[in-house]
Amino acid sequence: MEEEEKIKPQAVIEILDDGPLVISGNFILKDLKRETESTPGEVKLCLCGKTSTRPFCDESHNK
Ligand code: FES
Repeated sequence: MEEEEKIKPQAVIEILDDGPLVISGNFILKDLKRETESTPGEVKLCLCGKTSTRPFCDESHNK
């Protein structure tokens, strides 16, 4: 936490154990074709490979 206060990040990236990569904050997300951009505020990217909504986590890691 102290490290975050010194750096003042625009976004925080959390790697959850057996779960997704959670990105929150002020960032730009480009789709797989790099055709569109959005600023979602928070996104969960699948790390387990079980999702049906690639690259996003659909909670399949809990099953
Ligand atoms: S991390 Fe949630 S579905 Fe893969």
